[in-house]
Amino acid sequence: MAVVVFGSVNMDLVARVPRLPVPGETLTGHQFDTIPGGKGANQAVAVGRLGVPTQLVGRVGGDRFGQDLIASLETAGVGCDRLLIDQSITSGVAVIAVDSVGENHIIIIPGANGRVDRTDVERLKPVLSAAKVLLLQLEIPLNAVIAAAQVAKAAGITVILDPAPAQGNLPAELYPLVDVITPNQVEASQLVGFPVKDRETAARAASVLRQRGVQMAIVKLGKQGALCQTAAETFSIPAFPVEVVDTVAAGDAFNGGFAAALAQDFPIQKAVTWGAAVAALSVTKTGAQTSLPSLHELEEFLELH
Ligand code: ATP
Ligand code: RIB
Repeated sequence: MAVVVFGSVNMDLVARVPRLPVPGETLTGHQFDTIPGGKGANQAVAVGRLGVPTQLVGRVGGDRFGQDLIASLETAGVGCDRLLIDQSITSGVAVIAVDSVGENHIIIIPGANGRVDRTDVERLKPVLSAAKVLLLQLEIPLNAVIAAAQVAKAAGITVILDPAPAQGNLPAELYPLVDVITPNQVEASQLVGFPVKDRETAARAASVLRQRGVQMAIVKLGKQGALCQTAAETFSIPAFPVEVVDTVAAGDAFNGGFAAALAQDFPIQKAVTWGAAVAALSVTKTGAQTSLPSLHELEEFLELH
């Protein structure tokens, strides 16, 4: 397997609203959809749609959502034989509001994702032996994320950490286990303790994160694109100009595209461009897994731009 994802699987319950509600307010929306999501699953589907072999290790619940979530993953070519169906709990759920300009609010109920532990890391070990890249996020318990990173690092596999959703700073021991960290602006700000809002502050944040032990930092800057820093270089990739419908899973699309390119040994600049292009395509469509492009769509898009 080229890419292994160890992470969350959610069913997204998505309400379309004219604008995001303020505290205490009741709003009338105009559409409701049930769409497969979850940061781990989205990143695995992004990789799978690009034709790169991928496997997801994690948990779904013993409910109907669990079956639907597995079906969506398998349709995208994601290997699910190491995904545990935990009959004693419900699947993870995300309650999402999306406004008329594509901005969103998300509430997570972890369900089975919250039960991921060292026994899941044991199920992960055999698939890691054939992997090039391990993709991690923070929608499963942190101690399981750290244990997975330790195993992958010891095996010489490239570890990519999307520190999402934001949860303040991370334990110092995690940074040296990570090859590439990919925060968005909110996550980067919380990690470094100063506001990250443009390329200059992103470069400063990247440098702080590298000093903590990561090899490469990619700061995702929404419609300002992304900034990448290694020991050798710092460069920016602008966002591709597209019409935004819904930014849910833009960050996951970026990580999936980037990981799929790294797994094929593409140069770093091309890998970051793949991330930005997959993310740009994803914001032109509604939903999480429903918005992720195929390899053919990506190639056509890159040819046009
Ligand atoms: P999410 O909405 O999934 O939480 P995120 O906050 O993690 O996303 P962003 O920084 O918003 O991540 O976006 C990730 C990447 O998606 C950006 O680095 C950029 O390449 C692309 N992107 C985001 N917004 C746009 C946009 N409006 N137009 C084109 N590309 C975009
Ligand atoms: O990154 C987007 C994802 O965050 C959604 O699919 C939702 O499930 C939440 O986990």
